[in-house]
Amino acid sequence: MSDQATLILDGVNHELPIITGVEGERAIDIRDLRERTGHITLDPGYGNTGSCLSDITFIDGENGILRYRGIPIEQFATSPNFVEVAWLLIFGQLPTAAQYTSFADDLTRFANLDEGMKHHFEGFPRAAPPMAILSAMINALSCFHPDLHELDDEDQFRMAAARLISKIRTIAAYAYRHSVGKPYNYPDPRLRYVPNFLHMMFSQPFDQYVCDETVRDALNLVLILHADHEQNCSTSTVRMVGSSRANLFASCAAGVCALWGPLHGGANVAVLDMLEQIHKGNITPDEYVSMAKSKDSKVRLMGFGHRVYKNFDPRAQMLRTVTERLLERLGKPDPLLDIARRLEEIALRDPYFVDRKLYPNVDFYSGIIMRAIGIPADMFTVLFAIGRLPGWIAHWWEQSQEQGGKIARPRQIYTGNLQTDYVPLADRG
Ligand code: CMC
Repeated sequence: MSDQATLILDGVNHELPIITGVEGERAIDIRDLRERTGHITLDPGYGNTGSCLSDITFIDGENGILRYRGIPIEQFATSPNFVEVAWLLIFGQLPTAAQYTSFADDLTRFANLDEGMKHHFEGFPRAAPPMAILSAMINALSCFHPDLHELDDEDQFRMAAARLISKIRTIAAYAYRHSVGKPYNYPDPRLRYVPNFLHMMFSQPFDQYVCDETVRDALNLVLILHADHEQNCSTSTVRMVGSSRANLFASCAAGVCALWGPLHGGANVAVLDMLEQIHKGNITPDEYVSMAKSKDSKVRLMGFGHRVYKNFDPRAQMLRTVTERLLERLGKPDPLLDIARRLEEIALRDPYFVDRKLYPNVDFYSGIIMRAIGIPADMFTVLFAIGRLPGWIAHWWEQSQEQGGKIARPRQIYTGNLQTDYVPLADRG
């Protein structure tokens, strides 16, 4: 295979190097295209643009493959441990027993929020969207750790990463407790990552929440399946903000904002809305699918379609299995699961979805799992953020370690007014 591409512009040949990834993906390197030819490339939505070289996650969307640091996602299903996966993504290898214990201990040690920070929650209205609180409070964390704005070495970075991964679940749980007017539960150092989060969410004074093993494993898996997905919108946002040398807290707060949108992490809330509308009898599954296909409506079949997966999303398949197992073990059948299955069945037989290669994505079943655990719908995207945080951190660090890294600064093709003159207010008609 050639290691150069030839671009012919105005009769002049330009040789452009081809970069090949370890899995055989190929890219035309256009780094100096403008300098050499006066042209830029135009790719709205960046569907054909590689923004970086990365060692973290591999996706083959045609074949439904997702690997974290080379490990197929399916291999995390048997004894899911989010903390271990977080380490793997961030530091590049599975932790040794000693590394795991020390990292888990750090997560326990850092779980408390500064009391001053706790008071910030009082300023938010009860009905504030938890994603707004999450982003604001992650940014606020940076005020409490000015020593971690500039990370000089890996030890300091590990401290910042552990603080963020630990405190995000405390912030998330406090945001929820504030929204329902209940007292905050301090983290319990006897509990591991997921049970501690559920304790902070659901324990009542004098009535400690006890985490069922099936629930713990299901939530660990949900978090793992969201943990990284290479250059998605929020991760690209974190990298873009980080490219200006903004600190880790500020960059991740920006990631939360990007994730909030309904075409990204917010889709898990939209899926539940859709299933509930159908359940209430407002619309049938067939009618909903017809509406999603119509060019006259803005409705989409939420939880369907993906920029990268064009065959199946392995995360959706794993989540469907976990949903069924969890509901059975909890003895809590959910009519929304039947509706989801029905929608999937209709869509997968419909040429509209088949021709466009639209399949269930990670958001299609995750909401039903969270609902079964008792997590309210407006917290679903917050859970996505807790899951995605290790990925954001891994990408931020990878980028910050690059030699000669540049600030991200795309160009544009200008389509506005040609030069025009300023008209004083009094002379304007
Ligand atoms: N329902 C109906 N039609 C759809 C859907 C859908 N869910 N998704 C895409 N299409 C159609 C779209 O209308 C377009 O049709 P046409 O070619 O006739 O104009 C075609 O499929 C291609 O769509 P696109 O918007 O150009 O594709 P994209 O790669 O830019 O968008 C997507 C990917 C995930 C934003 C989109 O599929 C979507 O909006 N899905 C619903 C929202 C959702 O579930 N988002 C979660 C994504 S996975 C988790 C995450 O990364 O956050």
